[in-house]
Amino acid sequence: MDELRRAAKELVARPRGILAADESPGTMDKRLEGQGITASEDARRAYREMLVTTPDLSDSVSGVILCEETFNQRLSDGRPFPEALAELGLATGVKVDTGAKPLAGAPGETVTEGLDGLRDRLQDFASRGAVFAKWRAVITIGPGLPTHRALRANAHALARYAMLCQEQGIVPIVEPEVVAAGEQTMDQCEAVTNFAMLEVFAELAYAELDLPSMVLKPNMITPGLDRLDEATAAEVAESTVAALGRVVPPEVAGIAFLSGGQPADVATQHLAGIAARPAPWPLTFSFGRALVDQALHDWGGRVEGISAGQAALGERVRATSAVLRGSVNA
Ligand code: G3H
Repeated sequence: MDELRRAAKELVARPRGILAADESPGTMDKRLEGQGITASEDARRAYREMLVTTPDLSDSVSGVILCEETFNQRLSDGRPFPEALAELGLATGVKVDTGAKPLAGAPGETVTEGLDGLRDRLQDFASRGAVFAKWRAVITIGPGLPTHRALRANAHALARYAMLCQEQGIVPIVEPEVVAAGEQTMDQCEAVTNFAMLEVFAELAYAELDLPSMVLKPNMITPGLDRLDEATAAEVAESTVAALGRVVPPEVAGIAFLSGGQPADVATQHLAGIAARPAPWPLTFSFGRALVDQALHDWGGRVEGISAGQAALGERVRATSAVLRGSVNA
């Protein structure tokens, strides 16, 4: 367990964060097509190769989360992605859930699946270089939502996943994401996040998960994306650190925030405010869209676009990591 604790600590050690590049093939295809790029398995591979070979990425990023498809692919020089990442000084993570599916008896809500056969899959991923894994539960705010049954079902699945990860020597990233899209108020976001976290940490406690060997990946406490500008960065930071402080045990190795569709510069400003507040855990980022959107656009699916894409990603990760330098958290 000592080694796992060390690996978890290293993932969240300031000033580095985690790059989330684990969109499923279907989601990735939509993002490629949104930029006018013809989607294909090789386009997805080439895009991820462009991202992970960004010069000096490991100065700002400790690890990269891949989806299973990319984990199994190779760079154009023939190296498997996990091997190349290790050589680049980056820990390999893999998203192991199989997606959010409609939850019986809970209209409009989902439970994240993927537990069947997970032990064998994790064993295989570990043998091929996976250091950490990710499982994302999706929690939606709406009239009467979320229901307690959806929160419990998702928390239970997260705990079973996390236990299997630790059994197989992999650091689990536990991600209960309260979706930011919509018009909800910051108070609603805070109440739902608090409720979701209570359920998650109750299940993790029942399972007796080793908390210093896990990383939590939560949303920030913000108003919905349709009214994001109603809260200042200071308010977001104060509410986020206070809300998590009420529920998240100090033993957790660290907290790496998702960006949840916030504009890149806003996500970075929010992180700066969060990182400047005293907290019992290291606080960092595990952004997806806020780091890669510009890079995807500038790359444009063209070989000649690689250096522009990498410049855009390099700029974003440096700016995001910069706000963690000199922050007060351990
Ligand atoms: O599951 C969510 C991703 O890992 C983070 O993506 O920063 O675009 O929300 P995001």
